[in-house]
Amino acid sequence: MDLKAYLKERGGLVNQFLDEVIGRGSISPVDDAMRYSVMAGGKRLRPILLMAAADCVGGDGTRYLPVAAGLEMIHTYSLIHDDLPEMDNDDYRRGRLTNHKVFGHAMAVLAGDGLQSQAFEVMLGQTGVAPEKLIEVVKLVAHCAGPFGMDGGQALDITSEGKKLTLAQMQQLHEAKTGALFVASIRGGAILGGGSEEEIATLTKFARLFGLAFQITDDILDVEGDEAVMGKKAGMDALMNKSTYVTLFSLEKAKEMAKETLEEARRTLSPFGAKAEVLTAITEHLYNRKK
Ligand code: IPE
Ligand code: IPE
Ligand code: MG
Ligand code: MG
Ligand code: MG
Repeated sequence: MDLKAYLKERGGLVNQFLDEVIGRGSISPVDDAMRYSVMAGGKRLRPILLMAAADCVGGDGTRYLPVAAGLEMIHTYSLIHDDLPEMDNDDYRRGRLTNHKVFGHAMAVLAGDGLQSQAFEVMLGQTGVAPEKLIEVVKLVAHCAGPFGMDGGQALDITSEGKKLTLAQMQQLHEAKTGALFVASIRGGAILGGGSEEEIATLTKFARLFGLAFQITDDILDVEGDEAVMGKKAGMDALMNKSTYVTLFSLEKAKEMAKETLEEARRTLSPFGAKAEVLTAITEHLYNRKK
């Protein structure tokens, strides 16, 4: 399949939807700060995966743009806060100055808060889904974004600076800070698309492995990635004393672990056969991602 064309097409749908809802007609400058980071681009991987997971179980992923876009809003909020000097102290993101560099720290905090709240409003505006199913998915997203998922993982990331974690602790950190939102996306898509219990469980396992591998490859890119391609600075993890797969083990070992995890993720998809063509292609793409 032509993955590049597929990502462009699905990403375009997400962008169009986000453009219509983010920071339109609000009463304060927080609008501009929200739009600045969301419309800066980004791969839109979480919404694309939500739609692809729905397709994989026989649904029509493009029907779930509101929930998909909500995930991107939560992800973007996490990036704005992640870049603050109190967290990772980054000056560049998505090829632009970071939010707080342009709008100031207070507005960056508020833009993140605004995106998180509005994400839930947007997700609950999803039509064409039985109310109990929508509640299940929105509750899943909240769980995965909060103290048991991304937010908790970010807290572990901060408290792990300068520490020598065990492999199990390192894995837990990555599964929470990054894996959880991928679980929300892929499991959420499988539920919305009408997957069976078994299909939902299989795709949840896939999501956990995919998310872990995604963060390991992010750690690798922080060492050897091209800043111009990534749209963010490299070398920041070492500077901030972060515990990552690279700083804790080695670049070579991290690459090996990313490969093993991705292979396991790919194998998880085998019961779906050709229906997992897109998810398989996206997983294979991670091996050598440059951004
Ligand atoms: C960056 O996520 C933060 C991590 C969880 C590693 P992405 O690499 O998906 O960033 P964007 O959305 O494309 O900017
Ligand atoms: C990000 O991890 C995790 C989030 C939940 C935002 P990183 O801090 O490594 O992400 P980058 O490298 O800044 O994109
Ligand atoms: Mg961070
Ligand atoms: Mg960071
Ligand atoms: Mg990183």
